[in-house]
Amino acid sequence: MGPDRILIADVDGTLVGDDAALERFVAWHTEDRPSHRLVYATGRHRDSLEQLIAGTALPVPDATITAVGTEIHDEAGRRWPGWPERFVGFEADVIRLTLRRFRWLALQPDDAQTPRKVSYDIRDLAAGQISEIHAALVTSCRDARLVYSAGLHLDILPAQAGKGNAARFLASAWGASPGKVMVFGDTGNDIELFRHGFRGTVVANALPELREAVDEHAYRSPLSYADGVLDGIRHWSGPGTTITGPRRTRRR
Ligand code: GLC
Repeated sequence: MGPDRILIADVDGTLVGDDAALERFVAWHTEDRPSHRLVYATGRHRDSLEQLIAGTALPVPDATITAVGTEIHDEAGRRWPGWPERFVGFEADVIRLTLRRFRWLALQPDDAQTPRKVSYDIRDLAAGQISEIHAALVTSCRDARLVYSAGLHLDILPAQAGKGNAARFLASAWGASPGKVMVFGDTGNDIELFRHGFRGTVVANALPELREAVDEHAYRSPLSYADGVLDGIRHWSGPGTTITGPRRTRRR
């Protein structure tokens, strides 16, 4: 039998951003521990996430989805078998080479690049530019998809990767139906978490790029950061659930 519920939360700007709210989340998590699993889904790489966990109150999770859903690790930090093996057709070098002619794309530093994630920075990417990139990639790398977030970061990933696909893979590995999975986010690379029938919460500080992309089934919390996460858990857990912490009147 799977866990009662699985919480899959983005980190920067969702769980992290308000220290007092994070402390409230940690108190709830500690109390509710036996009945849920906690997963972080982030654009960060595993090492960078580990540093963040070590330097903040973030609890040690049951699994991590890192590098925008191209990597999954278990609670002991072992690569999840069966996930990275799916992306053998993705050729990061070919993508970098193909996109070299777009001078307006600035490659992120080396430590942001992996064999399954090519990342650039470009402020306010226009629809026309997205089409140009698509057109360039269509012939050289059919297996690629674009994820744009925070009005700045452009990640190119294997088509079957991404936070949402990784979340679905984990839920099924744990034997949990989508209805038992809650997801939480604030920017564009979280959009995909909201496309798999999970119970989604958009925190109040989310950017319009996420707000406008999710449908009416998502819960839009009036609370920010980890308070929004707690509010989402309360919302999706139904009446009678006791979750201590701020109530909805605490607007920011
Ligand atoms: C993180 C990653 C970066 C990525 C961004 C958005 O900041 O370090 O490479 O582009 O998330 O997904």
